[in-house]
Amino acid sequence: MSTPAAIDWLNLGFKYMQTNAYVRANFTNGKWSGVEVCTDPMFNIHIAAACLHYGQACFEGLKAFRRKDGSVAIFRPEENAARIIDTANRVLMEPPPVELFIEAVKKTAALNFDWIPPYGTGASFYIRPLLIGTSAQIGLGPSRDYILIVMGMPVGPYYKDGFFPVRACVQEAYDRAAPKGVGNVKVAGNYAASMLGDKESKDRGYSISLYLDSAQRKFIDEFGTSNFFGITYDKRFVTPDSDSILPSITNKSIQTIAADMGLKVERRPVSFDELTQFKEVGACGTAAIITPVYSIIRGDKEFTFGKENEVGETLRHLFNEIQGIQYGEIKDRYGWMLAVE
Ligand SMILES: Cc1ncc(COP(=O)(O)O)c(C=O)c1O
Repeated sequence: MSTPAAIDWLNLGFKYMQTNAYVRANFTNGKWSGVEVCTDPMFNIHIAAACLHYGQACFEGLKAFRRKDGSVAIFRPEENAARIIDTANRVLMEPPPVELFIEAVKKTAALNFDWIPPYGTGASFYIRPLLIGTSAQIGLGPSRDYILIVMGMPVGPYYKDGFFPVRACVQEAYDRAAPKGVGNVKVAGNYAASMLGDKESKDRGYSISLYLDSAQRKFIDEFGTSNFFGITYDKRFVTPDSDSILPSITNKSIQTIAADMGLKVERRPVSFDELTQFKEVGACGTAAIITPVYSIIRGDKEFTFGKENEVGETLRHLFNEIQGIQYGEIKDRYGWMLAVE
């Protein structure tokens, strides 16, 4: 295990790294235990555990940031708490209470305080809560026992070589989610479902895949691991409303800022044909905040937005606002940051 002193913060990338400790809580006999501190990353579960066979597994992803004064704060953890509860309820898992989730997330950051990258590096501390059903059972049905684990590790700056637009392609060979399925929650299986499509798009040279509604292939759903939004020539912020997309916390935050900037925010079904109306298109999520999208390919048609190597001014402003709030450079006027003592 490397020590924080030896870390090249700028070149961390996005990889697992063992840090000082992680936390765990157990749901057994109908109740949650308190939060336990653990250091051994290996632990035993039964070979018949429900998470292994029937996919009762879900997760979250959020970040803590070091500010100029050395303090650390986490971005909107109560939103991730609400989302893991929605996910758990959808697949009949035991949802962790909000207070337990927040305590576990805060404790993970506090236990690894020296692993939280220094201010100014652009790096951050990624927190990964995981919930799994662990009862041994071979008949299909919800687990009785659950484990909540919250781990965390430093991750590098997303745009260390500059903030450049990417090319995307519509992935039509496979769907990642079905209407009224589980695309709107963060179950582990959704990510296995999108791996092949995302790989094939990458192999063709496209950084990200865009998924359309799987019933009609008429409306835009989202990118593989981020939400879609577009800025129209007449300054509207347009983002899809769909049963099969994950409600992104970054998107929700960007909408608040966009409205403050005077943009009209429209969350509604967005037809693929509307692409021609967008001056700027972005993919948004915790990892990068915003990935500017220069073009989207569907079959032999390419739709482009703005200039090839230039980020549009609205996307840049939205990105700077969110990042500024996260690093404490801009006043936290919405109360989004939770301090870690
Ligand atoms: C499918 C999907 N959509 C959107 C997002 C973005 O969500 P958030 O902004 O909460 O990270 C993610 C990442 O969590 C995702 O996996």
